[in-house]
Amino acid sequence: MQKRVFISAIALAAAAFTSAVQAQETFKIGLILPMTGPFASTGKQIEAAARLYMAQNGSTVAGKKVELILKDDTAAPDVTKRLAQELVVNEKVNVLAGFGLTPLALATAPIATQSKTPLVVMAAATSSITQASPFIIRTSFTLPQAAVALGDWAAKDNIKRVVSLVSDFGPGIDAEKYFKDRFTFNGGQVVETLRVPMRNPDFAPFLQKVRDIKPDALYVFVPSGAGTALMKQFAERGLDKAGIRLIGTGDVTDDDILNGMGDVALGVVTSHHYSTSHNSALNQKFVQAFEKANNNLRPNFMAVGGYDGMRVIYEALKATKGQGGGEALLNAMKGQIFESPRGPMFIDAQTRDVVHNIYIRKVEKVNGQLYNTEFETIKDVKDPGKNK
Ligand code: PHB
Repeated sequence: MQKRVFISAIALAAAAFTSAVQAQETFKIGLILPMTGPFASTGKQIEAAARLYMAQNGSTVAGKKVELILKDDTAAPDVTKRLAQELVVNEKVNVLAGFGLTPLALATAPIATQSKTPLVVMAAATSSITQASPFIIRTSFTLPQAAVALGDWAAKDNIKRVVSLVSDFGPGIDAEKYFKDRFTFNGGQVVETLRVPMRNPDFAPFLQKVRDIKPDALYVFVPSGAGTALMKQFAERGLDKAGIRLIGTGDVTDDDILNGMGDVALGVVTSHHYSTSHNSALNQKFVQAFEKANNNLRPNFMAVGGYDGMRVIYEALKATKGQGGGEALLNAMKGQIFESPRGPMFIDAQTRDVVHNIYIRKVEKVNGQLYNTEFETIKDVKDPGKNK
């Protein structure tokens, strides 16, 4: 075992050396995503967004041909790590990108460090991820950014007693902690904290408990794709009829599946960095092009993380002209400031994390379709999880 680890460390270091000295004609992006299994919608959205970015911006940058190499990790961390290692050693990719869930990003972080390969996190959103390797850059969001904003809004909106219900892994734990701390600071009370399994959760017994406690609101975090099941069981257990409001980070009213949730979703207030209905010319253009290229599929916040991740990679390649290896590329990713379909955004050069607006939104019906309508903006939000 010891020997194998040693050999693979040498292989990774050698790969870093080769890619630094060989002026390759092709610039390779290894995109690792869950394309099958329960989190396949994340993979589908990010792949579609990355391909759209390339179609709009060309596949030759700084004289190099950009090649996207897509791998399906099935949302299993050991698979993500193995695929990353193969991409670095055999394919000599210049960048690793994707990472649909926190455990997948964390498992791969050592590969980025050892091989000095920039790793662009386009989806995963636990605060600590960027601290797992100095080669990690994030274009998605962090749960503390969204949770703190909602902790302010809920207190202002006269909500006093809350039960929280989160998916029991990194982003859920962040969502629970940062909402609770902020809401309590504002004078509110989190009377119960519930955690449900990350995979195939049965929400029913938890929701029954919430009904019995009868708080002013239920605050939730579930990962992208799981919102429909939660919303359905929330209505089936009659929590809405009992006068319990549903609030959460925007993952629960994911634009991808929101339309299928039906009227039970109407009025649900969430905090997030992206809504399909974000009112800007750039976003309208993005949504139209995405829907056209993908059989009317709505882009969600995962798509935007992928689209912006490609922007960060392309601009870094332009700035370095492909010279200087992974470290030069990483440095050119830090500090980028630009307009995203989500609004203004930048990559903080110190933390390598995303800074962007967080919007408070309400589900509304517009022209017969459900949307997360933004009604309040908190500007330029840094990750509150840093500097502890
Ligand atoms: C994560 O694993 O970090 C994650 C997954 C889905 C989300 C948010 C965060 O919607």
